[in-house]
Amino acid sequence: MAADAEGNPLRPEHFKRYDESPDPEFYAQPRLVTHIDDAAIAAAGAFYARVLPAGGKVLDLMTSWVSHLPDASRYTGVAGLGMNAEELAANPQLTEWVVHDLNANPVLPWADGEFAGAIVTVSVQYLTRPGEVFREVGRVLREGAPFVVTYSNRCFPTKAVAAWQMLDDQGHAELIGLYFRMSGAFGPVTAYNLSPNPGRSDPLYAVVAHAAKAPAGNEEAAEGSPSAASCLAERAA
Ligand SMILES: C[S@@+](CC[C@H](N)C(=O)[O-])C[C@H]1O[C@@H](n2cnc3c(N)ncnc32)[C@H](O)[C@@H]1O
Repeated sequence: MAADAEGNPLRPEHFKRYDESPDPEFYAQPRLVTHIDDAAIAAAGAFYARVLPAGGKVLDLMTSWVSHLPDASRYTGVAGLGMNAEELAANPQLTEWVVHDLNANPVLPWADGEFAGAIVTVSVQYLTRPGEVFREVGRVLREGAPFVVTYSNRCFPTKAVAAWQMLDDQGHAELIGLYFRMSGAFGPVTAYNLSPNPGRSDPLYAVVAHAAKAPAGNEEAAEGSPSAASCLAERAA
């Protein structure tokens, strides 16, 4: 991807999808399935427990019937945003939830500084306006609060943006780092390879940054060396 004069390599065509029909149509049917295997789910939960501060309210963006938090009672509340009411109503960890299409409207329905942490689990590839959404996440987080974006190597290929489909696992970390930078709402970005049993279970990666008051610089540190892998079709799609 060639960068423009400001160093941003992303163009509108990078956010095109094979299926440009409205997202509410695609998510109208509930999918009460998991999208990564048990080992990757456990790795995500352990990482969330490590990074999200206890005693505050957490935002689970792009969620479904599971939030992958090992112990939700550590938080004063867990707010969920997703696309399907039946999935969200079935999520036992959510204390409040809203059906909200972030590609139609990236503005989050919460007040400034309401959350002590935020997560997106295996879903960031579906955002067509990631800079705006990440800026909004920065707004609803307290200063210094973490935003954790985890991903694996599976997706609904017709709904993942072109930029995601062009890149491998390492490239996805860099793309998410770019989303953080584009938002202007976060400090330094760090990437982690959390894959539990390389080659034997689903890979899992996290990219994390903390909400900053003013636009901040960035530095990326990718741990491990994620192998090149394309976006495999969701097993349960
Ligand atoms: C692969 S599922 C992952 C669900 C959940 N985070 C998990 O870990 O099981 C993708 C999720 O992205 C959400 N999503 C997709 N497009 C969205 C959009 N335009 N606005 C908000 N959420 C969206 C859907 O609610 C869907 O549940």
